[in-house]
Amino acid sequence: MKSGRVFPLLLSALLITVGGGYWLLSSAGTSSADTRTTLPDPKIAQRYAEKPNPLGDEGVADLVGSGSNDEWACSSCHGEGGEGSLNVPRLAGLPAGYLIKQLNDYQSGARYNDNMQFVVKGLSSDELIALGHYYAGLETPPSAKPAFNGDLDRGRQLALEGDWSIDAPACFSCHGSSGWGVGEIFPGLAGQHPVYTFTQLNDWHNGDRSNSPIGLMKSVAGQLSRQDMQSVSDYLAGLVPPQPRTEGNAANPVDGSADQAHQSGDNDE
Ligand code: HEC
Ligand code: HEC
Repeated sequence: MKSGRVFPLLLSALLITVGGGYWLLSSAGTSSADTRTTLPDPKIAQRYAEKPNPLGDEGVADLVGSGSNDEWACSSCHGEGGEGSLNVPRLAGLPAGYLIKQLNDYQSGARYNDNMQFVVKGLSSDELIALGHYYAGLETPPSAKPAFNGDLDRGRQLALEGDWSIDAPACFSCHGSSGWGVGEIFPGLAGQHPVYTFTQLNDWHNGDRSNSPIGLMKSVAGQLSRQDMQSVSDYLAGLVPPQPRTEGNAANPVDGSADQAHQSGDNDE
């Protein structure tokens, strides 16, 4: 059990090193130092996840279901099961550390969105931690569908192999062999709503989202055309989404090696 946990840590470290090297190469000659100085701790999501859930799942029920006042319940936008729709992301089954980092980033302004900044404004750090653990633990059926009429073969190529002719690494080299994420730092992408995925890629491409560790996603999205972003978003939408990573869940074990989902990814079309 212990050694099973060492592997994802090593893998995360390796991916950060590889990704960082790629970033350094691809950003040579451009001024990307801003993302490094505003984000000094690339493993912050890991550290958030190590904090125990301070309120328990019951402690977040009000925030999720009715909000601090009625209009701002999480479920009013993200759905009862955190399933999301259109540009509102699916949250169910994403890593707790990643989710907590995003909530903190909205609060600090490191990630910008009117709705989410309003929502988290009055929440305590204990509440943010509890909400992250809550959504990470939800098992919710898939509901995403392709939206852009994208080229699914091209999307699959970008996800699984990348395209070195445009300096684009394979998405799954960081996001896990099935797009189910790796550890707490690399979120799952499979089964996400394509309008949301596309919006994020486009925001990184244009510099409107700049909160990924050491600028990793800025350098990836910067290489992609609009059509490529739509194709990969549509491809990812058709995959089985990640399920909660608990000790007993063979489909998505704690070490993130979700080999079973790879099959469905391969047989997607
Ligand atoms: C008014 C609608 C609305 C409400 C209410 C709302 N959200 Fe969101 N949420 C959004 C939208 C839209 C986005 C995507 C924003 C962006 O593009 O950055 C988002 C993004 C997020 C993200 C980032 C997910 C990711 O994959 O990076 C998290 C985490 C999140 N919301 C959690 C919550 C929680 C927890 C609550 C309740 C306390 C909540 N949201 C309430 C609309 C809402
Ligand atoms: C070098 C590693 C790396 C590669 C390659 C990579 N990503 Fe990422 N990606 C990350 C990291 C790290 C994050 C988390 C960002 C954060 O913490 O805010 C991320 C976040 C994302 C998100 C945000 C998810 C959410 O819920 O908001 C999307 C979408 C995404 N990546 C899509 C892609 C796609 C599509 C590709 C391939 C074209 C790709 N990534 C390739 C490292 C990578």
